[in-house]
Amino acid sequence: MKNEVMELARLLKSSKHVVVLTGAGMDTESNIPDFRGKEGWWKNRDPRTVATIDTFHENHSLFHQFYSMRLKMLEGIKPHRGHFILAELENKGMVQSIATQNVAGLHTMAGSRQVYELHGNIRNIRCNNCKHGAGVENFLEKETCQFCGKDALRPGVVLFGEMLPSEAWDGALRDIEKCDLLMVIGTSLEVYPVNQLPMLTKGKTVLINMEDRGSEGLFDLKIIGKAREVLEELHNTLEG
Ligand code: APR
Repeated sequence: MKNEVMELARLLKSSKHVVVLTGAGMDTESNIPDFRGKEGWWKNRDPRTVATIDTFHENHSLFHQFYSMRLKMLEGIKPHRGHFILAELENKGMVQSIATQNVAGLHTMAGSRQVYELHGNIRNIRCNNCKHGAGVENFLEKETCQFCGKDALRPGVVLFGEMLPSEAWDGALRDIEKCDLLMVIGTSLEVYPVNQLPMLTKGKTVLINMEDRGSEGLFDLKIIGKAREVLEELHNTLEG
């Protein structure tokens, strides 16, 4: 891995516009399960029976139980060193922005400023009807919207079949199309349309992932390893 990280450090230093695209593998070392890994959320659940607007309407208790569990397990969850290293690289002007599929907000918590939350943020609770904001507690208590009283509350995450937040998508697409280096960290690239982004950049592409999922030819450089470990190695190489 050392050689690949040295190559990544070289690419970083010679790039002007660097964008990072992260998935659930960026957060597993902060004890948030990923989706398709061995202990992932979708290990014994079909996502399309849980994370959909149909389930929200037709089997609300299942929807509420799944998202309440995920919200409760976020208590005490913190970014790990890898998140802080990415925030530091932004501060040094070496990373321009982060586009993430993750919904726990760990990049922002670690100090990253330009973060595009492509799949929303699980703590942003809102009414499914009038979009009026509410608190996590209101959602956990299964309250109806206090503003319009017409519908239940839901987390501000993108459910399967829903549109991505246009501002986040447009910003990420703009930055990724014109960047000269795209670092993709901890994602299976199984979910459309985010999985299209690495093919839309004119820049070099680097994958940092715990498992090698093939994707031959899509990446100029592949570093198979844990996100935190690789980012710490990158940090030491840059400081060295
Ligand atoms: N370091 C590096 N890679 C890791 C680590 C780690 N510590 N832990 C897991 N991984 C890898 C896994 O091997 C897997 O290839 O990260 C990838 C995570 O893939 P998924 O679980 O599919 O997560 P993601 O790609 O983010 O899923 C995209 O699917 O269900 C939807 O909305 C959900 O945003 C999510 C989307």
